[in-house]
Amino acid sequence: MRPSTIASVLALTGAAIAQSNYPNQSAPFNLQFISDDDESLNGTYIGACHTGAAIESLCTLGSSNRNNYYLNYTMYPSENVGLLTWNLVGNGFVASSPMNIFYSIGTDVAQLLLQPSSNGLHVTFDDNNKMAISNSIDDTVTPPKYITPAELLYRWHVCLTNYLGYNYNTLTWVLGNDKPQNPSCKKVDVLRTFV
Ligand SMILES: *[C@@H]1O[C@H](CO)[C@@H](O)[C@H](O)[C@H]1NC(C)=O
Ligand SMILES: *[C@@H]1O[C@H](CO)[C@@H](O)[C@H](O)[C@H]1NC(C)=O
Ligand SMILES: *[C@@H]1O[C@H](CO)[C@@H](O)[C@H](O)[C@H]1NC(C)=O
Repeated sequence: MRPSTIASVLALTGAAIAQSNYPNQSAPFNLQFISDDDESLNGTYIGACHTGAAIESLCTLGSSNRNNYYLNYTMYPSENVGLLTWNLVGNGFVASSPMNIFYSIGTDVAQLLLQPSSNGLHVTFDDNNKMAISNSIDDTVTPPKYITPAELLYRWHVCLTNYLGYNYNTLTWVLGNDKPQNPSCKKVDVLRTFV
């Protein structure tokens, strides 16, 4: 979906959110980049940055501004697995916008965008409040094998990306266990702090 206007997004969203797939919501929290790779990013707050009509990427806000995020979940499988959401506040409406992942054929750097929707990427938080994605198949061995319990992956990077002509340093997910092909990428972790 590449919405051209906020109205078209909200027309779709109205129906989707009425039957939300993830009705339960955590307390609000802030997110920060933690990085040994880039000291200027380390500790900065993560904000939602406009990158199209009702589309935001996740970028650095610096050290004073903060945005609130939530984990939307269902009682099953767990209240610690679900969608990272942010509220898009417009003129007379609030649209819950989950983070989703967008792949492009030419790169191993996948974009993470917030958009009004009833679905998104499943994330979790570890015991140290770091955001992760759980993985249960290891294909670095032949034949691929199941990993039990599932492992947590932290392949978050901040890279200079181009989305719809906007060049921003944004939070991304790098596919595979190798270095990203995009030379601007810095390794980061994403830390949650409840408000
Ligand atoms: C998240 O939970 C809130 C509160 O129940 C709800 O209003 C919102 O629609 C949910 N968002 C999604 C994407 O399910
Ligand atoms: C989760 O959402 C359901 C449906 O809205 C509600 O009945 C239940 O009480 C919620 N549970 C928690 C822990 O918030
Ligand atoms: C990043 O910040 C953390 C927590 O504030 C700190 O412990 C760590 O030393 C910092 N790392 C670098 C490379 O500055």
